[in-house]
Amino acid sequence: MFYETKDHHGLPHSPFKSLIVPRPIGWISSLSVDGIPNLAPFSFFNGLSDSPPMVMFACNGPSSPDGRKDSAANVEATGEFVVNMATEALTDQMNASSATVPNEVNEFELAGLTAEPSELVKAPRVAESPAHMECKFLKKVDLPSNDPGKRNEMIIGEVIGIHIRDDVLVDGLVDVTKFRPLARLGYMQYTVVDKVFTLNRPT
Ligand SMILES: Cc1cc2nc3c(=O)[nH]c(=O)nc-3n(C[C@H](O)[C@H](O)[C@H](O)COP(=O)(O)O)c2cc1C
Repeated sequence: MFYETKDHHGLPHSPFKSLIVPRPIGWISSLSVDGIPNLAPFSFFNGLSDSPPMVMFACNGPSSPDGRKDSAANVEATGEFVVNMATEALTDQMNASSATVPNEVNEFELAGLTAEPSELVKAPRVAESPAHMECKFLKKVDLPSNDPGKRNEMIIGEVIGIHIRDDVLVDGLVDVTKFRPLARLGYMQYTVVDKVFTLNRPT
């Protein structure tokens, strides 16, 4: 099949996101300007560079008055956030934290998670998660939106500190099979990373 994205695909659901798989989940914690913790998952998330280490996540606006997600507004206002590793063991909590709730609601409490202080930023991290990246906000990129009432924006941050729980380090390497990261597929589907193989690059 072929379709132009300006037209309808003719399928029961859009296939777009099911072709960009698996997507890692950036489980973003931040603080509001009033100091209320916020936590939400974003699968439009990835790393951007090694030196300095940078990450991005994209907020696709809701129909709130300003068309923005709380995470984007918080990060821009406070200049900080944390990426928490979403694992298979934390599936239900990750999902619970995606509920659309007012900015005053603390999603750590909503999802039954423990907010642990970070080392270098004020935003707390998810104590139950085996890895965290503390980030400083670098820049926001405003993207086009087909619905002017809803903003699409990419938030870029520099990773300034990384926590890794000792039990996922084996001989100094992160053992992905130990913490089993969750990843997003299309539709309402997910996968878990549990198969690994090594491939060396050609010299
Ligand atoms: C696995 C998963 C991935 C998600 N990825 C995104 C995403 O990439 N961009 C987005 O805008 N919303 C995404 N969402 C929805 C947000 O998590 C949800 O809108 C959340 O309420 C936003 O919270 P906030 O307003 O506190 O930032 C995702 C939800 C789930 C469960």
